[in-house]
Amino acid sequence: MPVRSKLIGFGGYLPDKIVTNADLSTRVDTSDEWIRTRTGIAQRHIAGPDDSAASMGEAAARAALEYAGVDAETVDAIIVATATPDQPFPAVATRIQGALGLKQGFAFDISAACSGFIYALAVADSLIQTKQARRVLVIGSEVYSRILDWSDRTTCVLFGDGAGAVLLDIAEPESESVILSTHLHSDGAHADILYVEREGKDGPSLRMNGREVFRHAVTKLAEVVDEALHAHGMTGKDVQWLVPHQANLRIIDGVAKKLALPQERVIVTVDRHANTSAASIPLALNEAVRDGRVKKGEIVLLEALGGGLTWGAALLRL
Ligand code: COA
Repeated sequence: MPVRSKLIGFGGYLPDKIVTNADLSTRVDTSDEWIRTRTGIAQRHIAGPDDSAASMGEAAARAALEYAGVDAETVDAIIVATATPDQPFPAVATRIQGALGLKQGFAFDISAACSGFIYALAVADSLIQTKQARRVLVIGSEVYSRILDWSDRTTCVLFGDGAGAVLLDIAEPESESVILSTHLHSDGAHADILYVEREGKDGPSLRMNGREVFRHAVTKLAEVVDEALHAHGMTGKDVQWLVPHQANLRIIDGVAKKLALPQERVIVTVDRHANTSAASIPLALNEAVRDGRVKKGEIVLLEALGGGLTWGAALLRL
């Protein structure tokens, strides 16, 4: 009997400090109007001195465990998607394993930038399908504020910090809830349009050709969304919710339009969170499940594109 996986827990963490577009306009030559019209972003949360990828990821993981009503001791594996680990090693995931007091199982990080959550979800789903794990925490945790060049108005206005988590479990054969499929892609030929310069003037600095990233995002996300639906003989009409990576409202609207999904069926957090990279999808999912919009049994489509370039989609029945 083939084993499948399903989502049973959702959690999120956002640092207390909120930085508005108006706040940023006192640091760089920008305006609330420029940022809102180009990106849909109004504000972002920024990590405080006590926040780290590990501490934020742990908080999101604890919330996901609490939602599912299960003990941390029952978790077999922890996967953290992050482009901003606190240290080159150990992995953020093993820090979280330690903080949760777990002695069993295994933990590791995945680096796929803003597509990291889709990649981590795909790996977790495979671990469960191949019976290497039963219960897996998948966490996206990012502290982009520590890799931004705060004098570069073309990038510093776009990102925020935070963490989101989901808990995966075995889906019994009769289970309505199931991860239907995941679809991953990358193309290293475009590695230099979005990357982190190791030795920027104030340390590591994110660099981006925004127009090129935008161009790739519009075409590649449309393709991967088609691929995911086609794999199940579905069309946009079968999708109840789109929970996209939150980089830019114009990119999100483009995918929704392609699916012919009305705005009220698209989960949007980019206005309040900005782009939290690998954390953005689990943060959005957590919000939408907890406020009762996205319900058990509904078809949910996830998609993301990020540095690498990497991109992917996941289709699930919640
Ligand atoms: N405030 C004010 N002006 C700004 C600005 C800011 N924060 N950032 C850039 N500008 C200026 C530019 O300098 C340029 O000025 P110029 O015409 O005098 O040279 C002008 O605005 C237009 O810049 P451009 O880069 O062409 O704008 P755009 O319409 O492409 O929008 C992005 C820029 C970044 C919003 C857009 O390209 C984008 O969203 N790209 C995708 C980025 C993304 O999602 N990355 C993460 C992927 S995971």
